[in-house]
Amino acid sequence: MKSLIKKLTSVTGPSGYEKNIRQVIQDEIEPTVKKSGWQARVDALGNLIVSTPEPKAGGLKIMLSAHMDEIGLIVTHVDEDGFARFTTIGGVRPLNCVGGHVRFVNGAVGVIGQEDSHQPKNAPAIDQMYIDLGMADRKNCPVKVGDVAAFERPPIDLGKRMVSKAMDDRVGVAILIETMRQMKSTPHQVFFVFSAQEEVGVRGAITAAYGIDPDIGLALDVTRTGDTPKGIKMEVALGRGPAIKVRDSGMLADPRLVELLVQTSHKAKIPYQMEVLEAGSTDARAIQLTRAGVPAGCLSIPCRYIHSPSEMIDLDDVTHTVKLLLVLLQNSIELK
Ligand code: CO
Ligand code: ZN
Repeated sequence: MKSLIKKLTSVTGPSGYEKNIRQVIQDEIEPTVKKSGWQARVDALGNLIVSTPEPKAGGLKIMLSAHMDEIGLIVTHVDEDGFARFTTIGGVRPLNCVGGHVRFVNGAVGVIGQEDSHQPKNAPAIDQMYIDLGMADRKNCPVKVGDVAAFERPPIDLGKRMVSKAMDDRVGVAILIETMRQMKSTPHQVFFVFSAQEEVGVRGAITAAYGIDPDIGLALDVTRTGDTPKGIKMEVALGRGPAIKVRDSGMLADPRLVELLVQTSHKAKIPYQMEVLEAGSTDARAIQLTRAGVPAGCLSIPCRYIHSPSEMIDLDDVTHTVKLLLVLLQNSIELK
């Protein structure tokens, strides 16, 4: 699991430019998909969708979604001296940019510098920063307007905990891959969706959910924690199990699905925590609001420092989430 997470989090794949990460995922899942006779396809937005055969009697169509994209930067202007100005793709905070390394989808690398004009006590605004690619002028600069980049930082292994610039949401991707590998049989038709463009407004999940038309939807994504010094008032902590989302700022999870996840965790003796997130949302919002509406929820992986280049997760939460998903998918489901 560790090596899978390391591999997935090392790939550059900002929203809309998921080609490389999608290829890595495709290579990872190919043996399982082939062996099981499942279908894999890529839709127009770039979502990778794997589906098991049609449901058996009493089975449901279940959509699971983990996004493969990450936050990033896009070049708006390159000046005469070869410095590239940029704007953000998704929720990039200026404070997390200063001193950062970035890697472009085209392979170019650079560092983020800041103008000296801003108040040194404050974080610079995005337009007071630039990417320095070590070039002497625009002519030789390897990037142009419209080129996209993501943060670059090698993952680190802290034993039970791991840190990477893209745990959001490659850890969810790793969980889906591992669940596919371990799933023995299911009465349901399961759609494993590796979604595109989540960080710019759950866009991939919108078209994926419409196309699949599921009976139930579940997102796998990271959530914030309240377990750091002077942290936010939030019950979620690293290492205490998957967080069952009740609410975030984009949706109220279907209470029947919340109850199902709670009961399933109880029965299987899997630790869990309840999540009420004050800001942010996930693919589950898109699933819930597709067509005439779908019961939807989210299993969250607790994660510190989300949207920074050093996002931290606990491996116990990862294995417990896989376990919970397996119990859920291998048994019949009734929403009460
Ligand atoms: Co995110
Ligand atoms: Zn996410």
